[in-house]
Amino acid sequence: MVKKLLEVLRGKPVAPPPVWLMRQAGRYLPEYRALRAHAKDFVQFCLTPELAVEVTLQPVRRFHLDAAILFADILLVPHALGQKLWFAEGEGPRLTPIRDAEGLNQLSYDAAKLAPVMQTIRGVRALLPPDATLIGFAGSPWTVATYMMEGQGGTDHAISRALAATAFFASLIDLLVESTSAYLIAQADAGAEALQLFESWAASVPDHLRAEAVFEPTARIVKAVKAKHPDIPIIGFPRGGGAWLADYAQATGIDCIGIDQMTDLVQAAATLPPHLALQGNLDPELLLSGGEAMRKEARRLVEAMAARPYIFNLGHGVLQPTPPEHVAELVAAVRG
Ligand code: CP3
Repeated sequence: MVKKLLEVLRGKPVAPPPVWLMRQAGRYLPEYRALRAHAKDFVQFCLTPELAVEVTLQPVRRFHLDAAILFADILLVPHALGQKLWFAEGEGPRLTPIRDAEGLNQLSYDAAKLAPVMQTIRGVRALLPPDATLIGFAGSPWTVATYMMEGQGGTDHAISRALAATAFFASLIDLLVESTSAYLIAQADAGAEALQLFESWAASVPDHLRAEAVFEPTARIVKAVKAKHPDIPIIGFPRGGGAWLADYAQATGIDCIGIDQMTDLVQAAATLPPHLALQGNLDPELLLSGGEAMRKEARRLVEAMAARPYIFNLGHGVLQPTPPEHVAELVAAVRG
């Protein structure tokens, strides 16, 4: 069975393009909310294979998407490193901040803590439709490091930027490169067929630190994963990196680049090598409002990208108040 998403990731244009959505599993789905009510703690929810398998499959079943994305979280790596992580109701993630060598010395990666994720991957592969692809993922080091240093999301990353020029930061990035590489290799061993690196906070890195905070750590992870799994495609998503996508693609060796909705997809495509697959970039707000405006923009993107290897997606995750019917309408519009 041909998997359209893998064809595209190998550099081949496919019409109509494969489609999946970032945050396709989550609170906008009533069947997610029903299962979520069974687990009091979000980390334990992610680490319970029976629940995580079901939640991974929910959107694929409902919308016949071309890919499932593993149900997990980028902050499971800090959890496996031994940093205290919890999700305060309505407030997002909280971590005990790590800001110096002393804090760093207490961390060490315990792969066993993430063994349930590998069980989830095997469970999903056993149940996934044969034409759908399972995408594994992790956060890129800078993005994960911001949560580790700030202790929460939603800040302007002033603490992270101040620490970014220190020896402590370089050691933290090294630790994240090693643990993230091991985590992604384990995901591929378990059956993930493609991988995505989320660099959600790419935009907050100062220009002069971009190479050492974003490009080099990402390149090291890509190299380590490909040394073990030479054929696994890797998608990089440097959100907010519109001005330097070509440099990112060149420096990191990723196979596909995810593009956010602040970037003009057609203009970006013109600056990127023709074999490089692109993914994106419908505005999640358009999916929220739905209707003809959404369908028209979806068709425009599909037509504009017809000659390239292209995966239809949003420019960022599905927003929580999105009506699920809009997703069905979007998928229909993409498939014409
Ligand atoms: O469907 C999927 O995309 C797969 C699962 C997935 C989750 N998180 C589940 C989740 C993925 C790929 C992520 C990635 C993730 N997590 C990112 C990168 C992508 C992005 O959005 O930029 C980031 C920054 C995180 C960190 C994180 N996890 C935050 C900021 C939050 C709170 C967000 C919120 O809406 O409350 C989470 C929690 C989280 N991760 C939820 C889900 C479904 C909501 C938790 C709940 O159900 O209570």
